[in-house]
Amino acid sequence: MTHTATFRVGSNIAFIKYWGVSDATLNIPLNNSISMTLADAHTTTTVAWDVDGRLSADSITLDGEELSPARARRIVDHLDRLRALAGVNYCAQVASWNNFPTASGIASSASGFAALTVAGCTALGLDWDTTRLSAIARRGSGSASRSLFGGFVEWNKGSRDEESVAHQIHPADHWDLRDIVAVVSAEEKKVSSANGHLLALTSPLVEARSIRVTGWLDEVREALAERDIARLGPIIELDALTMHSVMMTSQPSLLYWQPGTMAILHAVGRWRAEDGLPVYFTIDAGPNVHLICEADIAPEIESRLAQMSEVESVITSRPGPGPQRIDEHLS
Ligand code: PMV
Repeated sequence: MTHTATFRVGSNIAFIKYWGVSDATLNIPLNNSISMTLADAHTTTTVAWDVDGRLSADSITLDGEELSPARARRIVDHLDRLRALAGVNYCAQVASWNNFPTASGIASSASGFAALTVAGCTALGLDWDTTRLSAIARRGSGSASRSLFGGFVEWNKGSRDEESVAHQIHPADHWDLRDIVAVVSAEEKKVSSANGHLLALTSPLVEARSIRVTGWLDEVREALAERDIARLGPIIELDALTMHSVMMTSQPSLLYWQPGTMAILHAVGRWRAEDGLPVYFTIDAGPNVHLICEADIAPEIESRLAQMSEVESVITSRPGPGPQRIDEHLS
């Protein structure tokens, strides 16, 4: 046994969002969330455990650059969780590579912590099922719990550590949707989602969202089952707008939008109303807008976005599989 493993894991885009925690230590969310795992935006991670004791500390590189101790902190904390679960104290050499730009509005923490979990556990020889890995990944980043599964995925909030896990609702080939990210700013966000989750409960609107989200989850499950974009779209827009209302009314306020964000929201409304294009938006913790549509109109949406002066770049992804083991290791 080499104590080394490499996995490629897709990021995901949530249709019903996770925002806010009831237990910050365990990352137990305020509500269930539903997402689509992405085929074309992924992280590849190699974890090599130093069983011979050559390293004096963990060594972590991201996209070829060694991370400073401050930037490596969350990853080292996660390696500590894996060490504690396995009852070992080896240092690790971690190399990770994203095929999409960081701060592009695609969640690198989702694919990153999912890949770190599955590669790290596999390299330790821990033969745990995907549900257990989902619970472990959740501790690194909540949305990572969903990237352990391919296709369309729901994370049950649960109330205990082992209950707060994701599962697949439909495989990736169930529905040929597209997530088209319109990048309006590639600047790194000032408040991380990890800190944002702690602020959610300070918003006077958080309770209103919690009450309604149960019904929206039912709607999204049904729209996915029926592959009904006209039913899915309005709910994902409502949920994203409500989550951003919670963010904006937190104390301190989190205002992630830029003028370009608003320009795209207006454009999407026009394309639907005036041109009959069934395209809908969702927005994560940043200014970039994810446009969701079926595959047949994706080229038209991409070319319209490319003509907008507010849009810096466009990244499109299809629904993707769960973690893929790779034989070649990153160094
Ligand atoms: O997993 P985190 O802590 O990066 O939080 C993700 C939060 C959102 O992307 C805004 C919503 C979601 O459910 O993915």
